[in-house]
Amino acid sequence: MANQIKTIGVLTSGGDAPGMNAAIRAVVRIALSKGLTVKGIQRGYSGLLNEEIIDMDAKSVADTIQKGGTILYTARCEEMRTPEGQKKAADICKKHGIEGLVVIGGDGSFQGAQKLAHLGINTIGVPGTIDLDIACTEYTIGFDTAVNTAMEAIDKIRDTSTSHERCSVIEVMGRSAGYIALWCGIANGAEDILLPERWDGDVDRLIEHIKETKARGKKHHIVINAEGIGNSQALAKRIEEETGMETRATILGHLQRGGSPTCKDRVYASLMGAYAVDLLCQGKSNRVVAYSKGQYVDFEIDEALAMKKDIDDYQFDVSKHLAR
Ligand code: ADP
Ligand code: F6P
Repeated sequence: MANQIKTIGVLTSGGDAPGMNAAIRAVVRIALSKGLTVKGIQRGYSGLLNEEIIDMDAKSVADTIQKGGTILYTARCEEMRTPEGQKKAADICKKHGIEGLVVIGGDGSFQGAQKLAHLGINTIGVPGTIDLDIACTEYTIGFDTAVNTAMEAIDKIRDTSTSHERCSVIEVMGRSAGYIALWCGIANGAEDILLPERWDGDVDRLIEHIKETKARGKKHHIVINAEGIGNSQALAKRIEEETGMETRATILGHLQRGGSPTCKDRVYASLMGAYAVDLLCQGKSNRVVAYSKGQYVDFEIDEALAMKKDIDDYQFDVSKHLAR
């Protein structure tokens, strides 16, 4: 039934991502504009289970759109994976009058939202992760900021790498997803890009490629290595030993998850947050907001979780021919 909901909650879960604050702000302010009451749940499902629930008004999200991280904090919570934890979470929502819940996070967080939906809490997922690894959507909150942060850092490493005529192995985030590595690889002109989805472990071939580019007169060799492949220090050592080219490893790490969100992240996050509230007001539940083919759309969580996503082979093939 449309417009039955009076009180909604909002939480962020899983890894934080720049732009999450813009999404929270949109949820709060759009909900208030529709006459709803909004509760902020701190520290994701962990905070829900501990009843860390605060009242949100328009002022509570003031001065947040430009800030990285999440003002509601985030957490990972094992208890939420259990049926008992899920039942307790749904009961706490009911106790606090939370009839609708916006969950900003990744696939794991959506699984929690799906469980709550089956227990009678109207839930809507909003895709928030720097990894871009949610299959139903072409955009996830935080990816744009993260790749721009990584790109700027890699440009700096490239300067010193060229000056010393070195090889640099640069590890970017992405435990099982190579989107940050691929995008930076293209944007930074990396000679080699190692993606968890495609890497066959053939270090000998990588070393042959480095020798070949060196023989052609290249002044540096940039290898962008996704976190999921790891072993960047050991890889750098082996490259140096076998190519004779001085090699340094840099692990960019969590700096990629912080910082002020880009314009794109702020705008998409704001519209996705608003869209989530609209869905709740239409009486919808168990849905994920997505961006697909130029439009904001929504999918049933079950359907979204069943979708598969993979690195685009054309993009990866092109990347191999760009840095020559
Ligand atoms: P992300 O949301 O970024 O994918 P995680 O996979 O770490 O991050 O999941 C975030 C949280 O979502 C977990 O700590 C857990 O509380 C909850 N969650 C993950 N998987 C499930 C599941 N199968 N059922 C219920 N809750 C889950
Ligand atoms: O949020 C996604 C992500 O940054 C991944 O790229 C990375 O593998 C993981 O989170 C790191 O998580 P943690 O914060 O636990 O180190």
